[in-house]
Amino acid sequence: MTRTLLIDNIGELTTNDESLGDGLGGRLADAAVVFEGNRVAWVGPASQAPAADDRFDAAGRAVLPGWVDSHTHMVFAGDRTAEFEARMAGESYAAGGINVTVDATRAATDEALAANLGRLVAEARRDGTTTMETKTGYGLTVADEERSARVAALHADAVTFLGAHVVPAGAGPADYLDLVTGEMLDAVAPLVSAVDVFCETGAFDEAQTRRILESASAKGLATRVHGNQLGHGPGARLAVEHGSLSVDHLGFLTDADIEALAGSWAHGERGTVATVLPACDLSTRMPLAPARQLLDAGAQLAIASNCNPGTSYTSSMGFCVATAVLQMGLTVQEAVRAATLGGATALGMTEDGWVDPRGTRQPRVGTLGVGARADLQLLDAPSVTHLAYRPGMRLTGAVWRAGERLV
Ligand code: NIG
Repeated sequence: MTRTLLIDNIGELTTNDESLGDGLGGRLADAAVVFEGNRVAWVGPASQAPAADDRFDAAGRAVLPGWVDSHTHMVFAGDRTAEFEARMAGESYAAGGINVTVDATRAATDEALAANLGRLVAEARRDGTTTMETKTGYGLTVADEERSARVAALHADAVTFLGAHVVPAGAGPADYLDLVTGEMLDAVAPLVSAVDVFCETGAFDEAQTRRILESASAKGLATRVHGNQLGHGPGARLAVEHGSLSVDHLGFLTDADIEALAGSWAHGERGTVATVLPACDLSTRMPLAPARQLLDAGAQLAIASNCNPGTSYTSSMGFCVATAVLQMGLTVQEAVRAATLGGATALGMTEDGWVDPRGTRQPRVGTLGVGARADLQLLDAPSVTHLAYRPGMRLTGAVWRAGERLV
C-alpha cells in the first residue's frame, strides 16, 4: 500500500491553482495537503483534512510549490573567479569567457563532471528547487557534448543541447554549424528534450539561429533561445516565429519584441515563455530584463537562476524572486508564480506524462493541485511575502520532492 502523508496547520498555502484559492497564487489560509506516494492526493482547509498514515505539523508557516528552475548550465569544470573580479573592476562581459570553461570541461573526467553537477543540484534542492533543467554547451565537440548530455541526465529533470553556445576556438563557423546541425545533433538527440541557441553578436546570428532551430524541429526536439542578453537583436522575435518553448535573458527588448512575446499566447495558443534571469543581470551588470512590462503586456513569465560559472554562479531561486520583486517591479505573488508555474510552462511540464531523462513518466509540476507531483517547500515564515521582505535570509524550512522529504 502506498503511504500517505498529511501536512497540516499550513498558515498560507500557495497552490498556483485559482480554482483552489484566492488570487494569482490560488492561496488558502489554514490549509492542509495530503500526499499519496509521489502525488498530491488532497488539498483544502485543514479542518476538513482526511486522516493519513503520517503527519507533519507546518506550525502556521507558508507552503508553496517547489521552485522550477528552467535555465541552468551545470555540467562544467573549472573556475572563473578571476573573470568575475575583473568584471567587478569594470571590464565588460563578452561571451569569450565561455571558452575558458570549455577547456576545463574537456579536460575533466566524467566522474568529476558528475560530482560537480551532483553538488550543485544538492545545493539547489536544499534551497527549495525540486525541478531543474540543465544544458550542455561546455563540450563543443561531438564526444564532449554527448558526454555532457549523459552526465546531465544523471541528475537533471530536463536536458537541453546547447552545442550552439559559441563557435569553439580553432573551429570555423561554417564547419561548426554543419556539425551542430548534423553529427553532433544526431549524437545527443536521444539524450535531450530540447535544443538551445545563443543568438547574439559573438555567438550565432539570425540565419545561423534559424538553421539550428529548424534542424532541431526536424528531429522532433523542442527549442529554446538565449536572446537579447548583450544587446538588441533578433533572438526574441525568432523564438516566437519558430514556436520555441522559451526565450531567455531579455535585457534588451523593443516594444515590438514584447508585443510578439505577449501575442504568442493570444487565441488560446501555446506561446513562447519569456524567461528572465535576475541573478545573471546583476552579476554581469547588464540592464534588468523588463519583467514588469512583459507581464503588463500579457506575456507568460518565468524566473530562472541561470546557474553557471561565468555569468550567474548561484542556484538560489529565493534570491532571484527577491530581486524580481525589489528591482524588477513584480509583486511577490507574480514572482513566486514565475519561479514555479512559469518555469514548468517553459519546460513543458504542466501536464501529466512528461518524461524525465531517465525515461520515467512524471506528474505535472509547478502547481499544488490534486494529481500534481508531490513537490513542495515549507518556509520558516508565515507568508511568501517574506521571500522579498527578508532578502538574503535562508527561509527554507523543509522540502519534499516526489513525496520524498529532502530537507
Ligand atoms: O546564459 N549566454 C550564454 N550562456 C551563459 C553564459 C555562460 C558563460 O559565460 O559561461 C549565460 O549567461
